[in-house]
Amino acid sequence: MTPVGDEIVGHETPAHGAAMNSTPTVVAIDGPAGAGKSTIAKALAVALGIEYLDTGAMYRGVTFEVLKRGLEATDVEAVARVARTVRFEQTSDSLHVNGVDATAAIRTAEVDAAVSHVAANSDVRQEMRTRQRQWIADHGGGVVEGRDIGSVVFPDATLKVYLVATPLVRAERRVAQHGGDVEEIARAIAERDERDSTRDDSPLRQMPDAVVVDTSDRTVPEVIDEIRRLLHLRMTTRDDTRTSQSATDVSS
Ligand code: DC
Repeated sequence: MTPVGDEIVGHETPAHGAAMNSTPTVVAIDGPAGAGKSTIAKALAVALGIEYLDTGAMYRGVTFEVLKRGLEATDVEAVARVARTVRFEQTSDSLHVNGVDATAAIRTAEVDAAVSHVAANSDVRQEMRTRQRQWIADHGGGVVEGRDIGSVVFPDATLKVYLVATPLVRAERRVAQHGGDVEEIARAIAERDERDSTRDDSPLRQMPDAVVVDTSDRTVPEVIDEIRRLLHLRMTTRDDTRTSQSATDVSS
C-alpha cells in the first residue's frame, strides 16, 4: 500500500491530449496543506501524460527571494516589487529563483512561516495568476495545484478536485516528509489554513462544482484512479455537449 505522502506511481499514454481539443485540459487540484495535493497532482500528470504546475512553489519562491533580500514578508509594496520582477525556472520537481536553485530552501520552516503573508498580497497574487495562465497557454493544458485554481485562476477548468484529509493525517505526512513534532506541525498547519481561508483575495474555498476527494485512508493509485474516472466522465460529457451543440449549429 502506497500512502498518499509517498512517491508515485504508474504511467500511461495520454488519454486526453490538449491537441485533441481546442480548449486545453486543465485539472485544478485545490485543498489545504497536507491533503496530498503535490503527490496526487504529480502522479496524475504522469498518468495523463500532461504537465504539472505547483503554484504553491511560486508563492514560496517569491517568499524565498523576499527573505534573501532581508525584506519583511508583510511589506506590501516591497514584496509586490519582488513578485513582479522575480525570474523562475520551474520544473515538476525543482525551482530556480533568479538563477539560484531554491528547491530545498523553499520548504524550510522560515519560508513556511512567512509564505501565507506573501500569498495574501493582492499584487503578488495578480502577478502569479498571470504567470499561471501563461504557463497553461504555453503548455497546452496541465494539472495545476494550489488554493485558488478552480475558484479564480481557472474557473472553467475541465475538472476541479478539492482534496481533503483529517488534521492528524495531514500533520503526520508533513512530519514524515520534513521531520518535527506532530502537534507543533498540526498547529502551524491550522494557522496557515486559517490565514489562507480568511484572506480577502482569493481565499482557499471549496467550489460547488469541485469534487471532494478524501485522501486520509486511501492509496495514491486509488485516488488517481478515482480522479481519472471523474476526468473521463467530464471529458465525455463535455464532448457530448459540444457534439450536440454543433449539431444544433448545423441545423439552425
Ligand atoms: O501548497 P503550499 O503549502 O506549497 O503553498 C504555500 C503557500 O502558498 C500556502 O500558504 C498557500 C499559498 N498558496 C496560495 O495562496 N495560492 C495558491 N494557488 C497556492 C499556494
